[in-house]
Amino acid sequence: MEAEKLFLLFSLIMLQFSSCTSQDSLKTNHTIKEGDLLISKGNIFALGFFSPGSSTNRYLGIWYHKIPEQTVVWVANRNDPIIGSSGFLFINQFGNLVLYRKDDQKLLVWSTNVSVEENDTCEAQLLDSGNLILVRKRSRKIVWQSFDYPTNIQLPGMKLGLDRKLGTDRFLTSWRSADDPGIGDFSLRINPNGSPQFFFYNATKPISRSPPWPWRSQMGLYKSAFVNDPDEIYCVYTVPDDSYLLRIIVDHLGLVKVLTWRESDGQWKDYWKAPQFHCDYYGHCGAYSTCELANLNEFGCACLPGFEPKYPLE
Ligand SMILES: *[C@@H]1O[C@H](CO)[C@@H](O)[C@H](O)[C@H]1NC(C)=O
Ligand SMILES: *[C@@H]1O[C@H](CO)[C@@H](O)[C@H](O)[C@H]1NC(C)=O
Ligand SMILES: *[C@@H]1O[C@H](CO)[C@@H](O)[C@H](O)[C@H]1NC(C)=O
Ligand SMILES: *[C@@H]1O[C@H](CO)[C@@H](O)[C@H](O)[C@H]1NC(C)=O
Repeated sequence: MEAEKLFLLFSLIMLQFSSCTSQDSLKTNHTIKEGDLLISKGNIFALGFFSPGSSTNRYLGIWYHKIPEQTVVWVANRNDPIIGSSGFLFINQFGNLVLYRKDDQKLLVWSTNVSVEENDTCEAQLLDSGNLILVRKRSRKIVWQSFDYPTNIQLPGMKLGLDRKLGTDRFLTSWRSADDPGIGDFSLRINPNGSPQFFFYNATKPISRSPPWPWRSQMGLYKSAFVNDPDEIYCVYTVPDDSYLLRIIVDHLGLVKVLTWRESDGQWKDYWKAPQFHCDYYGHCGAYSTCELANLNEFGCACLPGFEPKYPLE
């Protein structure tokens, strides 16, 4: 009798799970339409369609699932909004994630565009890290991941820098405005030539730069690590404590910021930002090294090593 009750309870729970439409993965021939979400296993991130700010354009994006203020961390079709229509995402017969305008499959908006030469099917999965991965089902090999195509945000575990073997460069570029995730003017990237440095650009003009390699890893609200070997040069960071969320952003106003979210705050708070005026002031008035020192002391725990002004504002 007890066993029967338990079985009934178990069945009810399973039924609830299976009738719930949110899943963390997308299989061949399944689709994500307006209103559908992929939700990572731990309920951390969601993928779906959204309109930023006051815009009515539709974009495919990833945002934090748990917090009330919609905070988009990645956008697929950032330069190709779906205007006056709705989006339709699926894995096509060639194993690619494809985004169409409407379901007539006539207007391709965005695609992962990888060649899956093997006779294998692919599956897309949204991980709790916020990484959307496209995996070959049989070999479990990742053929594409959103972490390799950053938009304006670096999440924990995401590499920022170059893969010298593949010739790929992962860097952050700002949105155009709060209403437009299209590629904006500000970017943060590693310049690997000579002694590698991080540069923060306004279009092609450097605003700030970091001290040259080697960079010091330090522990603050997050732990940064730097790798520079013949294959790769990058920075990555981890957050040791899950009582808060943390992200690094290049915002459309021209700031690099580290932001944290705590439930008790109920909003994103600045933890670090650059460039900062006081540093410009130091650079302007005194010894160059004073500025760098002040930077290192103040910004030492950032993944981004301390910035110094390239062209101090007068
Ligand atoms: C997907 O749909 C196509 C066309 O309807 C079909 O040929 C193919 O077998 C389907 N693939 C899977 C894995 O269901
Ligand atoms: C896909 O990649 C190929 C070669 O890498 C390129 O020529 C083509 O324009 C890409 N297609 C899309 C839709 O991005
Ligand atoms: C793909 O795999 C199926 C089943 O394993 C096999 O029958 C078929 O010949 C394969 N096709 C190619 C082109 O390798
Ligand atoms: C970026 O450059 C543009 C054009 O030179 C300039 O108008 C703007 O003030 C700059 N913004 C920042 C934050 O440096």
